[in-house]
Amino acid sequence: MTFSLDDRQALVTGASGGIGSAVALALARAGADLVLTYSGHRDEAEAVAGAVTRLGRAATTVQADLSAAGAGRGPAERVMSSARPVDVLVANAGAGVLRAWQDVDDELWAQTFAVNVTAVWQLTRAVLPGMIERGFGRILLVSSVAALTGGVVGPHYAASKAALHGLMHHLASRVARAGVTVNAIAPALISGTRMLPGDDGSGDLATRIPVGRLGQPEEIADMALAMLTNPYLTSKVITVDGGIYPG
Ligand SMILES: NC(=O)c1ccc[n+]([C@@H]2O[C@H](COP(=O)([O-])OP(=O)(O)OC[C@H]3O[C@@H](n4cnc5c(N)ncnc54)[C@H](OP(=O)(O)O)[C@@H]3O)[C@@H](O)[C@H]2O)c1
Repeated sequence: MTFSLDDRQALVTGASGGIGSAVALALARAGADLVLTYSGHRDEAEAVAGAVTRLGRAATTVQADLSAAGAGRGPAERVMSSARPVDVLVANAGAGVLRAWQDVDDELWAQTFAVNVTAVWQLTRAVLPGMIERGFGRILLVSSVAALTGGVVGPHYAASKAALHGLMHHLASRVARAGVTVNAIAPALISGTRMLPGDDGSGDLATRIPVGRLGQPEEIADMALAMLTNPYLTSKVITVDGGIYPG
């Protein structure tokens, strides 16, 4: 049994974003080396890699547009070729275009599912055999409270995040005895991200949150690390949402 991530290789998708960069830095502080993926924001990913290096850990960046995930094993395979063996997978990259349900067309639905579900499945499928063989693995899927409440972004986003829960529960039960845990973290309304840069000044968002403010990426990273280091925690969705969802 190990609680340590010392010298483990971690792959964090969407590490150029708010939550992904905070999780990557938390993993580096816990002793892991990092492979960081980004799609459009190379400079942000390189800045995170620099910070990881200054913490004394190795960091590699990989560009991957995961919306191409529907086209087969392409993006997942390319990411994996730069990141073997992976001990810790944080599937964090996510797409969430704000759209009323009446305006969600098939294209937006498919794009959202490609990034939020299909790419996650493909990466998970790619890392699991090695984890099972080595008898150690940690997989954390970044969901959203929208999976539980419906949320505010749209039906495409809520449905895609809910799909992760089924994937997570199925896999967790199959790989638990091999020392591999599979969990999901479900944040809500996290500031300092491009998905939600901040409150709009009216304080409207904050009034919907019981703690009275938006969350910070570091608060998600702190819980992510606790989930990734605990060998007895598996098949769980943990919400970190200022009290929005009472479950
Ligand atoms: N912010 C919130 O309030 C909130 C709440 C619940 C759940 N979440 C979830 O948290 C995760 C991280 O998001 P964030 O809040 O940190 O937002 P963010 O700052 O916008 O980061 C999103 C990340 O996902 C990557 N990404 C987006 N589309 C991609 C694509 N097609 N291919 C590859 N990578 C792609 C982005 O890469 P580039 O920037 O390089 O393009 C970026 O690194 C997401 O799964 C999101 O759904 C966020």
